[in-house]
Amino acid sequence: MKNVVLPAPFGPMIETIERRWASLAIVIVVVFVVVAIAAGLHQATMPQSRVETVDPRTLHLGGEFIESNLGSAVEPDGSVTVRAIGQQYSFTPQCILVPTDTPITFRVTSADVVHGFIITGTAINLMLVPGYISSIPARFSTQGERHMPCHEFCGMGHEGMWGRIKIIDKAAFAQMAANAKRLSCVQ
Ligand code: CUA
Repeated sequence: MKNVVLPAPFGPMIETIERRWASLAIVIVVVFVVVAIAAGLHQATMPQSRVETVDPRTLHLGGEFIESNLGSAVEPDGSVTVRAIGQQYSFTPQCILVPTDTPITFRVTSADVVHGFIITGTAINLMLVPGYISSIPARFSTQGERHMPCHEFCGMGHEGMWGRIKIIDKAAFAQMAANAKRLSCVQ
């Protein structure tokens, strides 16, 4: 096969075009890296878009986290709001009761130090920071019982700090909710 020799002006011209494309490819990669770094730094340093605060010293005196308001509440739209408190070294309520196939919102806070709120076998995982309300949406498709161990070291009694969550049939829950304003499975 004969070597293809391009006429004099084309060789350098193609080289220039290739160089330009190569430079462009490098620029694109650099732009992606810069965007990734900027987005990461922004996310790590900016506060959450929505922060709800609560005074941990007066939780028991009134407001959303007063003891009589803790547990599961059925909202007018049929969804369920679960309110709970973590304190050294227990959760209130100790046993949370929720229905299956229902949109649920957990609203949890701490009365003293930082605690962890996790429901085993699910992606529900919150940090309870005194002064702030931690909130997460959830939905359970299967009935059963799960554990909620505190997963932030909170003092000498940390290992003993855990609760339970009982997921029951939607209809059974509705029946119980008809007779009580707030539900839990604490005996
Ligand atoms: Cu609460 Cu560890």
